[in-house]
Amino acid sequence: MSFVEIAQTDQLPVGTMKSFSVSAKTILVANIEGKYYAIDGKCSHAGGDLSKGTLEGKIVTCPRHGSQFDVTTGKTIRGPKIIIRFSTKDVSHYNVKVEGKSIKVEV
Ligand code: FES
Repeated sequence: MSFVEIAQTDQLPVGTMKSFSVSAKTILVANIEGKYYAIDGKCSHAGGDLSKGTLEGKIVTCPRHGSQFDVTTGKTIRGPKIIIRFSTKDVSHYNVKVEGKSIKVEV
């Protein structure tokens, strides 16, 4: 595994998130209070695009069935709801470092 440049800091203002394609993966990067975090960009339930969901604090909500993940850890906060609520597994979490204006993710 090595760190790969994924974005520039000016692409991700505080409180925003965006997904990027790196090494055949879709990775969601979020800026939480000036610190950057990276998790899988695809929901662990059925592959929903998390970048199209909502970010409130450090919690991203999937636009498809409402699963929620902590972007700082990838841990599932809430599973999907399709009539009843199910469980879903955590998404992968990636190490991030910033060098100058360059955001790098370990993949
Ligand atoms: S695909 Fe994300 S909650 Fe179903």
